[in-house]
Amino acid sequence: MSRWEQIKQDFPIFNSSKNSDLTYLDSAATSQKPKCVIDAVREFYENYNSNVHRGIYGISETATDMYEKSRENVSSFIGSSHANQLVFLRNTTEALNLLSYTMGRNLVSGDEILISIMEHHSNIVPWQFLEEKGIKVNYTDITADGKLDMEDFRRKLSPRTRIVSLTHVSNLLGTINPLVDIGRMVHDNDSIFIVDGAQSTPHMKVNVQDLDCDFFAFSGHKMLGPSGIGVLYGKEDMLESMHPFLGGGEMIRTVTTSGSTWNDVPLKFEAGTPNIEGAIGLSAAVDYLRGIGMENVRNHEKDLIEYTLKMEEEYAIPDMVSYGPKNTDIRGGVYSFNIGEIPPMDMDEKFRENGVMIGSSVHPHDISTSLDAGNVAVRSGHHCAMPLNHRLGVVATSRASYYVYNTREDIEKLFDQLEKIRKVYDLGR
Ligand SMILES: Cc1ncc(COP(=O)(O)O)c(C=O)c1O
Repeated sequence: MSRWEQIKQDFPIFNSSKNSDLTYLDSAATSQKPKCVIDAVREFYENYNSNVHRGIYGISETATDMYEKSRENVSSFIGSSHANQLVFLRNTTEALNLLSYTMGRNLVSGDEILISIMEHHSNIVPWQFLEEKGIKVNYTDITADGKLDMEDFRRKLSPRTRIVSLTHVSNLLGTINPLVDIGRMVHDNDSIFIVDGAQSTPHMKVNVQDLDCDFFAFSGHKMLGPSGIGVLYGKEDMLESMHPFLGGGEMIRTVTTSGSTWNDVPLKFEAGTPNIEGAIGLSAAVDYLRGIGMENVRNHEKDLIEYTLKMEEEYAIPDMVSYGPKNTDIRGGVYSFNIGEIPPMDMDEKFRENGVMIGSSVHPHDISTSLDAGNVAVRSGHHCAMPLNHRLGVVATSRASYYVYNTREDIEKLFDQLEKIRKVYDLGR
């Protein structure tokens, strides 16, 4: 049994009688959970369940200790110099909304925010909220091979750009963006640099000090941890200077009828009872990933995407198109594709006759449903990146995305089934 087949054994879902023979290719949406993570959460509930930072009895002190140790563990996993710089939130989406809300308070009409056309909606919509204050959101374009267009980036990085917020890895194209170089340019421009690490932290070694980003956001559920736990890393002085996001218990130092003062960071941003078991489960996930080694995780997924591109060539399925860079040095384990072109409604005149789609295409939802019949789980849709779909001239794609429990056999199964699907939908053309 190969190392990766052995790793797959650590994930109870693949041994469950409810879904025998599952080929799970949707880890960009959410990952499966190893037994050690499930056990860590169960162990907390069975032995220590109590609230944190409040009780002065045994199990509550243990719970607080477990929660804060989890913070330290996750903090060191991303190379943060101090655990105080790590705020536990629900997910990447909440972290980016927190930043838009708190940073937005200091922005004025005419200020600009620079993002890119390859962002997930969670790194677009929170910034669009600020447009009603007269703040402009600019979008860096992509090149034909799915990379950030650096010329366009330089052009749009202006003296008015207050914030640059970019994804580390695209959830649709798999592109790994050159953030170290970009970070330098952003800071030379005196702008704040925010990184959406939802698709990088699970899959490669991340070091926030090397990136020199001011903020970095990611989600536990995409990196073998539980749902409902996410992280915002922020440089301590930046977090200190920011206004709180949510108000309530835990985030205050004093409350009087004439006003309130705030707790120290990071608790200033953790209003209410936090997701204690989520933090503990995420810490267990981090230990598990450390055990494999993040370089090994990255190399394994690089091998899988290389193999995918090779299979694509070998199978040569008629009308199959895929998206994202062919250079696997800058490509994560994400493979988005279509069989035939699926243009959006406002771009599709040439593909329609009397309202009926012409040309040899299989809708991504049909691909997904047909693959499901053969126990292959992929996601189809816009992948919460509608502007990128529009830029690519498609309404949707199917997406296979990989993780530590996937092997080359999964990819062979995917292509075997796609070939069959193409034939079924061929309709004699
Ligand atoms: C690049 C990227 N950013 C942000 C998110 C949002 O993550 P969450 O739904 O966990 O907040 C996702 C989720 O797919 C993503 O792929």
